[in-house]
Amino acid sequence: MIELRTPAEIDEMRPAGRFVAETLRTLRSETTVGTNLLDIDRRAHELIRAAGAESCYLDYAPSFGSGPFGYVICTSINDAVLHGRPFDYRIEDGDLVTLDFAVSVNGWVADSAVSFVVGTPRDEDLRLIDTTERALAAGIAAAQPGGKVGDISAAIAEIAHAEGLKINTDFGGHGVGRTMHGDPHVPNNGRAGRGFPLKPGLVIAIEPWFLQTTDELITDENDGWTLKSADRSRGAHSEHTIAITADGPVILTQV
Ligand code: MF3
Ligand code: CO
Repeated sequence: MIELRTPAEIDEMRPAGRFVAETLRTLRSETTVGTNLLDIDRRAHELIRAAGAESCYLDYAPSFGSGPFGYVICTSINDAVLHGRPFDYRIEDGDLVTLDFAVSVNGWVADSAVSFVVGTPRDEDLRLIDTTERALAAGIAAAQPGGKVGDISAAIAEIAHAEGLKINTDFGGHGVGRTMHGDPHVPNNGRAGRGFPLKPGLVIAIEPWFLQTTDELITDENDGWTLKSADRSRGAHSEHTIAITADGPVILTQV
């Protein structure tokens, strides 16, 4: 079911968006060569507690993961791109890190992800990250009242295809509200003018993610959660929660 939010409800969603944005900024700035992924999770947990927020991930047990996630943040490293379960690993120079974080504050969810390189970057990693960021910006720009979900999908896909990237549509954007994953699904590929109508009050996460040289994912056999590229090439992911208003899209997950 698709729910539309009033302008007052969208205002109520702002603290969650701001907290998610601030937390990702803090965690990113504290992540250096040698940072342990478990410390990033611990720190995120501490910030959640201090803010009185509630994790969307800790007890989350969907069909696409094995049991409850058990952590409050996804840390996907290098060939891992989505749902990276934190584990005892110290970040190395040149690692491509994705942090994906969702909480609720006052009963409203916000969901956002960012990718970055720690230490000395490789050109192709910076290019991949830049492509997901440009795809996210294009998807947001296409999220106009009167349009269709396919407008967002097509805008994202156009950026990826211009870079010669293949797109996996097994996971994409989604409605955001009282819970993290709602309707409509917002695929990272599709046709403009098709799909669910974009109306004022629709709140969605838009989340392009791409792999360097494949569109095939495998699940890490050790944790049953982390999604990695089938060919070990690296992945990147950029996500914002946005509200569609009569005046156009508004990004909620920014400070
Ligand atoms: N926040 C992710 C998304 O962007 C979902 C992560 S689910 C988890 O939709 F269980 F892995 F945390
Ligand atoms: Co999401």
